[in-house]
Amino acid sequence: MLNDKTVVLGVSGSIAVYKAADLASKLTQAGAKVNVIMTESATRLVAPLTFHSLTDRPVVTSMWQAREAGIGHITLADTADIVVIAPATANTIARLAAGIADDMLTATVLATRAPVIIAPAMHTNMFRNQITQDNLARLRARGFTIVGPARGRLASGATGEGRLVEIGEIIDAIEKTLQKSADLSGKRIVVTAGGTQEPIDPARHIGNRSSGKMGFALAEAARDRGAEVTLITAPSHLPEPGGVAVVRVTTAAEMKAAVAKAVKQADALIMAAAVADYQPKSRAQAKIKKQSPEMTLELVRTPDILSEVTGSFIKVGFAAESEDLVANAQKKLKQKGLDLIVANDITEPESGFGADTNKVTMIDKEGNAESLPLMSKREVAERILDKVAGMGENPP
Ligand code: C5P
Repeated sequence: MLNDKTVVLGVSGSIAVYKAADLASKLTQAGAKVNVIMTESATRLVAPLTFHSLTDRPVVTSMWQAREAGIGHITLADTADIVVIAPATANTIARLAAGIADDMLTATVLATRAPVIIAPAMHTNMFRNQITQDNLARLRARGFTIVGPARGRLASGATGEGRLVEIGEIIDAIEKTLQKSADLSGKRIVVTAGGTQEPIDPARHIGNRSSGKMGFALAEAARDRGAEVTLITAPSHLPEPGGVAVVRVTTAAEMKAAVAKAVKQADALIMAAAVADYQPKSRAQAKIKKQSPEMTLELVRTPDILSEVTGSFIKVGFAAESEDLVANAQKKLKQKGLDLIVANDITEPESGFGADTNKVTMIDKEGNAESLPLMSKREVAERILDKVAGMGENPP
């Protein structure tokens, strides 16, 4: 797994830094090209020469020294198959979470498209501090993998959470992530996102509360696992993910046309969009004036995209429910001929529309139901893609 892989090993200034030398050595022995980047404080604890000797490659200690060594400021970011930060201090984690790029390590992480693993090491109180917890949650939500920390004796003499995990555990995480980062490689995945808008007149529409976050997280996660992704999105304020073909639509009918076109060559369709069920029967050409105290808007059904678009691809649907979650989702799975349905209870405060987190139950064709705890939408996306990748081995 590691042979010929390019690993950026970021080393920050925790006393556990000496263990990173062992990690650099083991990765090199396994055939990886290990490019070590040290923060300024890491160089106070271990000499760069240690890493240079173990990896037989240049060690970067600052942007300027990298420049002098002929290494461009994003070269390491571009060429990495994976970035591992071990040990990661509370300070480095905070800088990464804030998107700071004032040294070679943080700049590389900000610029890379490669998966990133973080192995924190710090005093228990720093780790338990809500600020650090928030920073880690933020990174996790961006798709970073956090390994550890472990419990045990700390440099201060106290015992608690905060020790760097065993090197073997970091290597396991690297191998698992590398495997995952390619498990959808060559697969074409179509993801829909956002809530459709059905115009009433030039100024108004019928809409819903979908933010697009779940669909965008799915598109980003699928891209990071090697898939060729088309994201068909109803209006959303989220920034367009890089490396994904984005198709913008407004109405259910437009979404249907875009989906029908995109699925022709797709291996999977994941419909995370909240598609309107009804649209105004006719669209007024001019803005409707207020006249009588009451007005009636006549609505007709929109096309049911999932049911109507057919082909030999894996079909995943979502079911936003406010009651009888599993039973209703199961019904939709059958009705719409799905391989998997992801049901979420929209009455839970931290789940569903607009939230960064989601609490879902995944139900497959065989009737297996798996309830996941509350997690970030990115993590939910990964779990859904684990299922899709598994089905890809035995396509429907
Ligand atoms: O609206 P409903 O609960 O039936 O949505 C379940 C699934 O069907 C979702 O994945 C949604 O994107 C999809 N859907 C669709 N076309 C519609 C309505 C919903 O494809 N008109």
